[in-house]
Amino acid sequence: MLHAVIMAGGAGTRFWPASRADRPKQLLDLTGEGTMIQATACRLGDLMSPDRVLIVTNQRLVEPIQEQFPELPPSAIVGEPCKRDTAPCIGLAAMLVSRNDPDAIMVVMPSDHVISPESAFQSAVRYGASLVADAEDRIVTFGIQPKYAAETFGYIERGESLSSDPAAPPTFTVARFREKPKGDLAREYFESGQFYWNSGIFIWKAKTILDALQKYEPEMYAHLAAINDAWGTPQQAEVFDAEFAAIRGKSIDYAVMEHHQDVVVIEAPFLWDDVGNWQSLQRLNQPDADGNTVLANHLGVDTHESIIKADDDHLIVTLGMREVIVVHTHDATLVADKNREEEIREVVKQLQANG
Ligand code: GDD
Ligand code: MG
Repeated sequence: MLHAVIMAGGAGTRFWPASRADRPKQLLDLTGEGTMIQATACRLGDLMSPDRVLIVTNQRLVEPIQEQFPELPPSAIVGEPCKRDTAPCIGLAAMLVSRNDPDAIMVVMPSDHVISPESAFQSAVRYGASLVADAEDRIVTFGIQPKYAAETFGYIERGESLSSDPAAPPTFTVARFREKPKGDLAREYFESGQFYWNSGIFIWKAKTILDALQKYEPEMYAHLAAINDAWGTPQQAEVFDAEFAAIRGKSIDYAVMEHHQDVVVIEAPFLWDDVGNWQSLQRLNQPDADGNTVLANHLGVDTHESIIKADDDHLIVTLGMREVIVVHTHDATLVADKNREEEIREVVKQLQANG
């Protein structure tokens, strides 16, 4: 049966001050249409019943996430005791899902993307699940046509075409998977025209990903197996804390995707956007006539190409401003040059260092 695993344990410091350690971007409403994690769950439509959805996050975020999903039982939200990246998150989810359904197929989804239309996403997942069901140990990924030589995404090189059904989206074997190549290599991949960006959405049998983790990350697998053995016993919390902390953190892209043999890429038949920073809001929200993206009670006089956001109905007035970011929250306000927003991460580090 098809299960969904939503990964929601990221930190998201670039959205400070709207995002904080206890309120990262997955829990923000950046578009005015619900939080990113709610949109992620909603996107599943009727692919599976709610009892086959598992959210894996950080312990600190379990409660706020539960508030956003009152219909989900507490067992559907797992809180990791510390951050160890996506491979342990996925391995644990695969073990938990397999307890009741040893033949489970999983669609694994990040919670920091905007995807539309939902119906295209759902039919793509159904198609991907059918490619997995028919094979021994296949991994299906969704590829995005790259728009520039990004260093922040994985790259997937197309191999042979597998498209036999003209109604299905273009599908290829994967010749190579390379996570976050730097500078020249990213440019080479982009310019070759042979690569997709990795969307970060995967489909596999739970057994396939567990076998792969056991093969490529035996130590990580052993820690996860110990947690699984203690699950549901009085020792669960204690074993989870100790064994999870002992894992060396790694993302699934480095741990498995760069090594696995049978990987297939489906060209994503949906629009996909990574919501990585404040500027990405400008792609998601139609700017006004002056090029401003406004998510606030705002009066702009001679204000252009700016991003203005407030949590509440606080009035923001800007006069004679160009290319600025103004983000107001109840206890902190950011005013920044729009072209220097990558430095927000450093500022947050300084703030943390200063307590
Ligand atoms: N539970 C849990 N625990 N979730 C996590 C953890 C963790 O330790 N770390 C990250 N996540 C969640 C994030 O909240 C996000 O939803 C998802 O897992 C992916 O993590 P990111 O940290 O955002 O990964 P990335 O964007 O740098 O890279 C991945 O996604 C790209 C597409 O956006 C990779 O798969 C790339 O190859 C891909 O191109
Ligand atoms: Mg991401």
